[in-house]
Amino acid sequence: MNTNPDSVPSQPLKDNKSQPKILFIDHAGVMGGGQYSLLDIARHFAGSCKVLLFADGPFRERLQQAGVAVEVLAAPRKVSGVSRQATLLQDLRAVAGVLHLARSVAKHARDYDLIYANGQKPMVVSAFVARLANKPLIWHLRDTLTVQFESRLHLWLATTLANCFVARVIANSKATAEAFVQSGGRADLVQTVYNGISVAPFRAVTSEQVAAARQQFGVGSAPVIGAFGRIAPWKGQHVLLEALPQLPGVHVLFVGDAIFGEDAYGKKLREQAVALGVADRAHFLGFRQDIPLLMSAVDMVVHTAVEAEPFGRVLVEGMLARKPVVATRGGGTPEIIENDVSGLLVPPSDAKALVVAIGGLLANPASAQRLAEAGHAVALQRFSLEALLAGVMRQVDDVLARHR
Ligand code: UDP
Ligand code: GLC
Repeated sequence: MNTNPDSVPSQPLKDNKSQPKILFIDHAGVMGGGQYSLLDIARHFAGSCKVLLFADGPFRERLQQAGVAVEVLAAPRKVSGVSRQATLLQDLRAVAGVLHLARSVAKHARDYDLIYANGQKPMVVSAFVARLANKPLIWHLRDTLTVQFESRLHLWLATTLANCFVARVIANSKATAEAFVQSGGRADLVQTVYNGISVAPFRAVTSEQVAAARQQFGVGSAPVIGAFGRIAPWKGQHVLLEALPQLPGVHVLFVGDAIFGEDAYGKKLREQAVALGVADRAHFLGFRQDIPLLMSAVDMVVHTAVEAEPFGRVLVEGMLARKPVVATRGGGTPEIIENDVSGLLVPPSDAKALVVAIGGLLANPASAQRLAEAGHAVALQRFSLEALLAGVMRQVDDVLARHR
């Protein structure tokens, strides 16, 4: 049985004839949260959309498997290599590449009604495309636009381009929307549409599979915490490691990989586990495709972002798996979890607070169960795939109606 969150076939909301023709643009070849979300969205427009990627990789394969037309337009290295904290010189070196890429994308755009940029780099390129091809542009904003993440020049560039060339910004949380406005983005452009995740793959997990997975962890009946997410300093996996010596007998599964090149941090985490004497209780599983099963097999899900998490799909996934979720306060997290009602919120970068929260849940299974059940209900009600798709459709229809 396949338990991938994106393996559930879903029906397009409208028949293809009446579906708007959308050209989706994404810079990534690998699967991050933004790519999982776009996979769900593009699948609903399959037949009337195409996805252009600026890098090849597993994302292209997943889109193809889902029946979505996809093409790779490899970005020049000077463009793909620009980091979020790039220097002015690096940015200037990328300009010619961005314009070249925009001209190539514009050729594709002629056949579509609307351009949909999934993230910031695609938006920068698409801003020029929208102008060249005279098409409306939606920017699905999935990043927190603050100086903690971006250079000031990038913040200025992103908001200025958006203010001039973007018809609608879809923010993945109110926190993300607010950061956009705080950075100079026009408030009238932004609408929040939360991520939504299908519950079906979580419901499909059987107790036999859970028992087999637990056996594979090889930890007997010891408590197991799941820390799901890519390995990156701002995701804060080091804080959970810091807490581990104070949580005797507790094991942690770190599920995820350094997909955006944070390998040095991954190495540091392993060294930290050894230095803290917890290497036998910290298990690095790398990138996994069976998230619903793994989430169902752990005792709780802990998310330790040390900077504002824009949304955090893993929180909702933990709730769908009926697990108590402990998460750091910041960004979109408090919009998903109400402290002590549908999960626990702790301050970021605070290992002691994590120890108290995790220890408390382990010592009090009834309260852990109460939070898990409440979280499950919230995830079903407020973060369903249907709600995401309906929200996106509403924005697409509105933008097209205004453009006509
Ligand atoms: N994920 C996965 N395999 C892994 C680690 C993560 O499939 O080994 C998925 C996870 O289930 C979630 C997404 O990657 O759907 C991460 O999204 P999130 O919004 O939590 O964080 P992002 O990486 O986008 O910042
Ligand atoms: C980004 C954000 C994450 C969010 C995802 C989907 O990758 O880091 O918080 O859940 O996009 O919108």
